[in-house]
Amino acid sequence: MVVCRSRALGQLSGRGWKRALLSLRPPWAWVRPLSNGKPKADTHFGFETVSEEEKGDKVYHVFESVAKKYDVMNDSMSLGIHRLWKDLLLQKMHPFSGTKLLDVAGGTGDIAFRFLNYIKAQNQRRQQRELKSHQNLSFGDIAKWYQNSRCSLGESHVVVCDINKEMLKVGKQKAQTLGHKKGLAWVVGDAEELPFDDDKFDVYTIAFGIRNVTHIDRALQEAHRVLKPGGRFLCLEFSQVNNPIISRLYDLYSFQVIPVMGEVIAGDWKSYQYLVESIRRFPPQEEFKEMIEDAGFQKVAYESLTSGIVAIHSGFKL
Ligand SMILES: C[S@@+](CC[C@H](N)C(=O)[O-])C[C@H]1O[C@@H](n2cnc3c(N)ncnc32)[C@H](O)[C@@H]1O
Repeated sequence: MVVCRSRALGQLSGRGWKRALLSLRPPWAWVRPLSNGKPKADTHFGFETVSEEEKGDKVYHVFESVAKKYDVMNDSMSLGIHRLWKDLLLQKMHPFSGTKLLDVAGGTGDIAFRFLNYIKAQNQRRQQRELKSHQNLSFGDIAKWYQNSRCSLGESHVVVCDINKEMLKVGKQKAQTLGHKKGLAWVVGDAEELPFDDDKFDVYTIAFGIRNVTHIDRALQEAHRVLKPGGRFLCLEFSQVNNPIISRLYDLYSFQVIPVMGEVIAGDWKSYQYLVESIRRFPPQEEFKEMIEDAGFQKVAYESLTSGIVAIHSGFKL
């Protein structure tokens, strides 16, 4: 680089020299200002280049702004399909009575509520089977048994962790409306620095959250740290569409329709513009699989759903 510049300077004279010298950037000009002795790195916020610090603030602002309309927008944008993707995540998880789940970037609680319903339904079925196998039960015994089974969670528990208080606030209100009182906790925390001890959870989930995180590698390492040996990592995230025709239609829908919907339903064009841009910036299936492996997970696999619009990645801490 330096050699090329001096060669170019060698061919100049008079005013040309002066102009060339003035146009030369000093070597420190492309290093961003220092903060705590470290150069500030750039990252992306959708298609925009921003500092890492700015990204965190901007992402926070997006979800603070959309929190109240988040669920309505999810249903409208995906025509309700996000519900099926989330159901599939639960089927893959196949939790058992006693599972301790950590749902990171859990927002308004969709994964947590599905988990609680799954466990309750499973326990109810088991108790019904047991009940049928008992002979000579009184009416009182049967009534008591049914009452217990309806709210039975066993030792299962889910912690919803999210960086955004507004999203959690909406989630807590939803939990009240849906009647989820037990087996559920809400924690404000950053996926990159989880406020939990090592080896604590059986399952870690993150649904449509990881692409918003500034350092995906750090979030993955944290997932690995808080899982018990044998624990499972599951991530549901937008991915790369593998059919060129669907890809064109999807692009058209994403860039032409979603921001307009965002404006009409939530009065917020920009946040939904970010949403579609952030999806395009997220690594494709294979690349993300390698990142999960780099964090120490084993038996990493993924399944693309709806032509790759989303994918579920899974890995184990062994
Ligand atoms: C698209 S929402 C997904 C919410 C929920 N998991 C769902 O599937 O409906 C993304 C969530 O990620 C959260 N988030 C973004 N950055 C985060 C971080 N560094 N740590 C924890 N949560 C984060 C946001 O606050 C937001 O609630």
